[in-house]
Amino acid sequence: MTLTTHKFDAVIIGGGGAGLRAALQLAESGAKVAVLSKVFPTRSHTVAAQGGIAAALGNVAEDKWLWHMYDTIKGSDFLGDQDAIEYMCKNAAKAIIELEHFGMPFDRLESGKIYQRPFGGMTQNFGEKPISRTCAVADRTGHAMLHTLYQRNIRANTQFLIEWFALDLIRDTEGDVLGVIALEIETGEVHIIQAKTTLIATGGAGRIFKASTNAFINTGDGLGMAARAGLPLQDMEFWQFHPTGIQHVGVLITEGVRGEGGYLVNSEGERFMERYAPHAKDLASRDVISRACTMEIKAGRGVGKNKDAVHLKLDHLGEERINKSLPGIREIAKTFANVDPVRDPIPIVPTCHYMMGGIPTNIDGQVVDTTGVVNGLYAVGEAACVSVHGANRLGSNSLLDLVVFGKAAGDHMAAAIKQNNTHKTLPANVAEATLTRIARLEKPNGENVTEVGDAMRDSMQTHCGVFRFPDEMAEGVAQIDAIAKRVPHITINDKSQVFNTARVEALELDNLIEVAVATMHSANARTESRGAHAREDFAERNDEKWLTHSLFYKENNTLRYKPVNLKPQTVESFEPKKRVY
Ligand code: FUM
Repeated sequence: MTLTTHKFDAVIIGGGGAGLRAALQLAESGAKVAVLSKVFPTRSHTVAAQGGIAAALGNVAEDKWLWHMYDTIKGSDFLGDQDAIEYMCKNAAKAIIELEHFGMPFDRLESGKIYQRPFGGMTQNFGEKPISRTCAVADRTGHAMLHTLYQRNIRANTQFLIEWFALDLIRDTEGDVLGVIALEIETGEVHIIQAKTTLIATGGAGRIFKASTNAFINTGDGLGMAARAGLPLQDMEFWQFHPTGIQHVGVLITEGVRGEGGYLVNSEGERFMERYAPHAKDLASRDVISRACTMEIKAGRGVGKNKDAVHLKLDHLGEERINKSLPGIREIAKTFANVDPVRDPIPIVPTCHYMMGGIPTNIDGQVVDTTGVVNGLYAVGEAACVSVHGANRLGSNSLLDLVVFGKAAGDHMAAAIKQNNTHKTLPANVAEATLTRIARLEKPNGENVTEVGDAMRDSMQTHCGVFRFPDEMAEGVAQIDAIAKRVPHITINDKSQVFNTARVEALELDNLIEVAVATMHSANARTESRGAHAREDFAERNDEKWLTHSLFYKENNTLRYKPVNLKPQTVESFEPKKRVY
């Protein structure tokens, strides 16, 4: 079969905040850049980010990027790389001003300066008291950011391949990445996209869990491609459960609610966070609050018919304030929880929200394996692990991560393109493995994609949740390995399902299962508790053995480890210490 080949200087896989920020940098440098996206770019999951983007602007109270850096390192439970965290926090204010100049309509203070609200774990003077550091556009910050970046890209002549699904990286025998094989969803045609530089910006993979705040498109496509190309996935045991997902539906209720003064209560009407985090209370970090909610429910102090949720109360903020600062939350609570938060509390449960792990990169977004940089390949955003979030991300640091490292990767790629006039020769039979993978879906009498997918989601939810139990972990590994063996036998031979959407769903499961297997094995192997990884049998953090990043390789389900970088470039290290809020 002859496939159409397209040539670009850069191909960006994913049209969310990270991909668009990088694309803008490239397009403005004069590079020929294509953004390939499964959905219309402004429907990428960045659009769902609510509460805001962190930067030490000091618009409400004195603030310093070094305090932001300290909070982020502490939030990461000391697993974050301190050079990367330093870079992100130092460049945060510049990134916000840049977005403002792009036209992002930030909320304003009376003074006219950008509005900032408190968020969990963000403090003044190395933990002294909470600070307002999170810049916001009401509770629709990601929406505003994504539309702003999309419009700037249109102006800069970025090309968009919309409703195209990236299938596999093209890697030659020297290990260099030369582009990507992609499916045009509308026609079912497979294309070769040849590029001097390739950026993975495919976002998260929260759909490996049954209950998730993530969109259905968050299927870890970049991670699946990387794993199949022989690359490692880093720190996959660390998944963030957002404390406030709406019970039964998983829709996000922003931490901005608590930033604005909302708080959690149990069935006895007790503000229970006062017991778990006496200092920061409802503005402790997310791992701490999610564990507290889970323990309240386990202790029988949950709310509702089955006592399996807790309440988020915000009625005391008043209708006017809720309408001004949290209009989307009022709408979401009415639609999905059938409560009007102006009067009634919202029933919430900790819900899978964010993947701290991902494809390992350096600060320039270059993908790094244990042998060094992978030529031609970059990753940014949630798909990447640079690592600024370590074992637990602070809320409002993810939008920051997208724009700071999106720009850094875009700059590095633009420089690489300027030095390199030619495309490398593609390997022979470049798409053979991908075409075989697609063709297997047409065989008769195979496994059903929904059944296998549900088995994976059930298993992840049961065995790898907020708390991880010894027997369940071991059982989870066996179960997920068995489910992975079923995936190659999935077919779409049900003639009512022959459209490309069915094909896409099956191919997405190829990616999800890589993420699920990496997560379960990495979690089982890490015999300590750190950040979002909370084990019943190893309840303490163990820096002596585990102050280390995990690297999971698909081949033989192998785990390797590499040191955490505790050395920032321009300031003193923050030494690991006990983490209390
Ligand atoms: O709660 C939120 O608004 C989510 C923010 C984040 O994940 O950074």
